Amino acid sequence: MKKINIAIDGPGGAGKSSISKAIAKELGFIHVDTGAMYRAIGLYAIRNNCTEPEQLARQIEKIDIELKFIGGVQRVLLCGDDVSDYIRSPEVSMAASKVSAVPEVRKHLLDLQKKIAAENNIIMDGRDIGTVVLPHADLKIFLTASAEERASRRYLELREKPDCPSYEEILADMKQRDYQDTHRAIAPLCQAEDAVLVDSSDMGFHEVVEHITNLIKEKLD
Ligand code: DC
Repeated sequence: MKKINIAIDGPGGAGKSSISKAIAKELGFIHVDTGAMYRAIGLYAIRNNCTEPEQLARQIEKIDIELKFIGGVQRVLLCGDDVSDYIRSPEVSMAASKVSAVPEVRKHLLDLQKKIAAENNIIMDGRDIGTVVLPHADLKIFLTASAEERASRRYLELREKPDCPSYEEILADMKQRDYQDTHRAIAPLCQAEDAVLVDSSDMGFHEVVEHITNLIKEKLD
């Protein structure tokens, strides 16, 4: 039976992952966070000192990325090791954005993403899901918010942690990642023509979850 595929794209810090996770739970779908896959490869690049795209491209076949869903929650495995708890730092965020511009990296992950989508009812979030990975998704959402709002949400999340960067540093990183993600040659972040735009700058978390869940229910009815 054909599986239901929902695509959610948007810039970093727009809340795609937490919102997709909440919607997936409500609808009984699997949430696939494709950013975590790029983050795992970013972590590999840091750990193996791969500073040049060519180095990474040469090693790509041995970078094994796997997703496991434990109690509906995604874990990402890098060469068999669960690295889910090591991929959320600002350093890995920047590395993920850099490795995601390498064509061999994108190709490596694309097949895996398509396979998961063909086999499961999913909500998949990322940057190129509606445009490249799932061009025939049942519904496409482009979820965004102003850079200032996204940076302030990230700051509130991180501020209790040791070595929390300042709001200004987070905003500068966010703008740099936005630039890299929208200007790369392959599969840049952009809104698919048939995607529904949701600007969450002035919306609360639950409001966004409810709004997108309703859009999905309307579409599937
Ligand atoms: O969604 P995120 O912040 O976890 O993503 C980390 C980086 O991975 C992001 O800066 C760009 C890249 N990415 C991508 O190029 N394509 C995707 N589908 C998902 C993420």
